[in-house]
Amino acid sequence: MPVDVVLGGQWGDEGKGKIVDLLAADAHAVVRCQGGANAGHTLVDGEERLALHLIPSGVRHAECLLVLAAGMVVDPLALVEEIEALEASGHPLRNRVRVSVAAHAVLPSHRLQDQAQERQRGTGSVGTTGRGIGPTYADKAARTGMRLGAFLHSEAELRDRIRAVLRDKQSVIEPAGSLDVEATLARLVGLRAEIAPLLCDTTALLHELCAAGRTVLLEGAQGAMLDVDHGSYPYVTSSSCTTAGALAGSGLPPQVVDRVTGVFKAYCSRVGNGPFPSELLDATGERLREIGREFGTTTGRPRRCGWFDVVAARHAACISGFTQIALTKLDVLDEFETLQVVVAYELDGETVTRFPADHEALSRCKPLTVEMEGWRRSTRGCRDAATLPEAARRYVEFLVDRIGVPLGYVSVGPERADAFAC
Ligand code: GDP
Ligand code: IMO
Ligand code: MG
Repeated sequence: MPVDVVLGGQWGDEGKGKIVDLLAADAHAVVRCQGGANAGHTLVDGEERLALHLIPSGVRHAECLLVLAAGMVVDPLALVEEIEALEASGHPLRNRVRVSVAAHAVLPSHRLQDQAQERQRGTGSVGTTGRGIGPTYADKAARTGMRLGAFLHSEAELRDRIRAVLRDKQSVIEPAGSLDVEATLARLVGLRAEIAPLLCDTTALLHELCAAGRTVLLEGAQGAMLDVDHGSYPYVTSSSCTTAGALAGSGLPPQVVDRVTGVFKAYCSRVGNGPFPSELLDATGERLREIGREFGTTTGRPRRCGWFDVVAARHAACISGFTQIALTKLDVLDEFETLQVVVAYELDGETVTRFPADHEALSRCKPLTVEMEGWRRSTRGCRDAATLPEAARRYVEFLVDRIGVPLGYVSVGPERADAFAC
């Protein structure tokens, strides 16, 4: 079967983009299925560092189709900007980007609404990326949104469609500012000539590729703990970050899936608010953040850091059916004398090994850890499991064994060549 799925196993930023870039060498198409420009997927190649938000991470493979499928929410202004920036940096892609007519448009009003809602939530804010994701999915579910297919209609029809979405938004966006409706309309309608040629029925396209035996790579955004149903709601994103979400968003059926790779960092990070049982609020957390350069790709915010959490990882593997694990950023732990791994939680005096579905219960969980020896040697330059320091091998084997999913890849640096199959 020709479909590979790559998903985040934690709170996002696990290094999905880098693993997709590696696997895309064999793919005919790389597909983003959910989320929007809240994602920030980084590809590093020598001096070049690409931060992708909407464009799939197959961009460095010139033959690869780059598909933005139906389940995505796409900001047309951000899309054109990202394409222009990538083309300017030497990555031609206009003729290989395919955007679904059914994907929903994120309009400037959605961004302002997102920001206004966050302000109103005050101390209970989600800590969103402010990219309009939640309000756009809300409009989609309420059937008041706009699909990108509107850009295929006449200018007058497109204008009416956008006007209908912008209507009545003034009161909800007020805390974040006001919207000049006529100027917004002019900007968006002006994109018609650039957006229209990118649009197609991506569901049909993906079915054709699969029927022809082509390899299709579904690229997840965010991560299992940010899943709208199975994460720490309400401190989540507004889409499904699971295998089921990738299938729903792409329109492909489950039986075409061959492999599901869950990407995990060798520790944990989270950007935004909400419970994070293994979080380290001390100097060790600061050290992880500094060595791991844990600052958001999309917003630049410092990421909260903590030890690897096996309870959360098992939950992610369970809801998405991971068939293999890609473990990234092992090199970040190179200098630590000892490491902790969270293997259970203490919840109201009881030991639990299952991830609580209720975020209030989750926020009362105290981590129970196992200490492991560090390796205090650089893993940079390791190109197979055999050359990893013995303590690093033991650490990786411990995680893999506790999660209960085989190891597929280990990564010891940001470059594509720094990851190897195991
Ligand atoms: P994504 O959202 O899951 O694609 O991950 P991000 O790109 O937001 O964050 C991962 C960060 O870690 C990026 O800056 C990557 O360049 C970097 N990275 C990925 N793999 C490794 C690795 O194995 N070691 C190190 N040191 N950095 C890595
Ligand atoms: P990638 O694909 C990490 C987080 C936000 C916030 C919550 C909701 O790069 O891993 P949203 O803007 O989606 O409504 O914000 O989700 N979040 C991410 N955290 N990586 C991401 O994407 C994220 N996308 C959203 O910080 O806590
Ligand atoms: Mg990211």
